[in-house]
Amino acid sequence: MSSELVNKLIRAGIDKNEAVKEVSILKKEFSDPSKILELIEERTKTRKPLQYLLGKAFFMDFEVKVTPEVLIPRPETEILVEETIKRIQKLKAKSQQLKVLDIGTGSGIIPIALCRMMPNIEVIAIDINQSIIDLAYNNAKNNGVQERVKFKVCDLFLEDFEEIFKKNSFNLIISNPPYVTKSNFNKLDPEVRYHEPAIALVGSKSDNLVYYERILSLVSVNRKPGFKQLIAFEIDPPLKDGLKSILQKYNFDNYEFLKDYSGHQRCLFVYT
Ligand SMILES: C[S@@+](CC[C@H](N)C(=O)[O-])C[C@H]1O[C@@H](n2cnc3c(N)ncnc32)[C@H](O)[C@@H]1O
Repeated sequence: MSSELVNKLIRAGIDKNEAVKEVSILKKEFSDPSKILELIEERTKTRKPLQYLLGKAFFMDFEVKVTPEVLIPRPETEILVEETIKRIQKLKAKSQQLKVLDIGTGSGIIPIALCRMMPNIEVIAIDINQSIIDLAYNNAKNNGVQERVKFKVCDLFLEDFEEIFKKNSFNLIISNPPYVTKSNFNKLDPEVRYHEPAIALVGSKSDNLVYYERILSLVSVNRKPGFKQLIAFEIDPPLKDGLKSILQKYNFDNYEFLKDYSGHQRCLFVYT
């Protein structure tokens, strides 16, 4: 039965490795073959991602609920979190409390992962609307870290966002902002193009660099002498040169780009 199901998915245009993985997930989740078949039918007809059909996804070693309003967690973001943890631990003694800002939290995976892995951090996490924030809060609650994360509705281009910077000194500012260009978005799989939120992938601006510039400009104006900060971004490889120009414009000279496992530039770490 498994190979028939895998073949159904492949015939619908789904990559072989992904098809094998999805059938194995479905078999673990459901013992009733008719339920599995029903989901495979829906999956092939609509190309809706399996995570949205199941209403959940995995990130690192934990589970979160996902709806089509939030991005499905990606393995690239696991690299961002793992590499950030390595770097932040060097920044301060383990015993000290660290303040973190997560910008564009989506399902809340970044603050949840950071809280699960580091006992000494507290996070402010923002996103653009209440239903995303409610989902992220519930995910934090289901993972036992809701006391350590303040979730807020906030648009990073509005004044409220500037207030967050004025009122807090963050040791770590982390973000996986919308970084897919409109032309690249049109080349992506139907799962992404038709079902994942465009605001999370492409954003609402004509140039994706503005997200990074907005954040770095606020870090720059709120910089305090002697206070060390780490800024950690997930990036799209073609943005590298534009990002270098922004770093130069705001006088950030201590930074590193990091590649993902496929050899693509994926993270930018800035040290103040
Ligand atoms: C690429 S997704 C990242 C989601 C999550 N952090 C992750 O890594 O899976 C970008 C997130 O930024 C949010 N976003 C888009 N525009 C925003 C804005 N102007 N202000 C705040 N958040 C925004 C989206 O709603 C989305 O959740």
